[in-house]
Amino acid sequence: MTGSSTIGRFIALEGGEGAGKSTQGRLLAEALRAQGRDVVTTREPGGTPGAEAIRALLLANDAPDWCPRAEALLFAAARADHVATLIRPALERGAWVICDRYLDSSRAYQGGGGGLSDADLLDLHRIGSGGLLPDLTLLLTLDPQQAQTRLGLRDADGADRIGGRDAAYHDRVAQAFLRFAAAESGRFAVIDAGGTPAQVHARIMSALA
Ligand code: TYD
Repeated sequence: MTGSSTIGRFIALEGGEGAGKSTQGRLLAEALRAQGRDVVTTREPGGTPGAEAIRALLLANDAPDWCPRAEALLFAAARADHVATLIRPALERGAWVICDRYLDSSRAYQGGGGGLSDADLLDLHRIGSGGLLPDLTLLLTLDPQQAQTRLGLRDADGADRIGGRDAAYHDRVAQAFLRFAAAESGRFAVIDAGGTPAQVHARIMSALA
């Protein structure tokens, strides 16, 4: 599997719930646009009408409890549509794509959290999306206590079906993200997500430089 190897640049934001990925994605997009770049911001699961329809299925609180493999296939299906109809075309025209969550979320949640093997998840990604990897993956890390406080402010009406899983699940997710970042240090930058949005943004800009 290789990086996007196209003209544009592909940046993914990863991390657990409440780390501030969406805020940082917005700030990064603004900074890159101020440099005159063509920037596309998007998210997973979702980003295209087809993938958003799968997102609604996956994250609804009254969704059925799919077996782990079915859940992984649904995320991979959403990603296949997203990559084919939005991400690849944007990279090919030279845009910078900033994606809130991507493949490493499947590896961390369905793999680390749900128990599927990393090799199987990478196979699904190869079949669905030609193995497209980000040029840079920003892993935002935050201690679980602080993340909970931020989530309490954001999700006053409660977490979604996956966000609401138990602490042991989320702990396995966090450990998996750190393992990937250590093993693939060329593609990852680990960013301390503590502090103000401006402080975290400054850390991201220096990682980018
Ligand atoms: P979302 O609200 O977009 O994320 P966040 O809470 O970080 O703002 O919800 C997406 C949920 O889906 C989140 O709990 C992580 C999970 N997820 C997976 O389990 N696998 C995946 O491949 C992706 C992209 C997300």
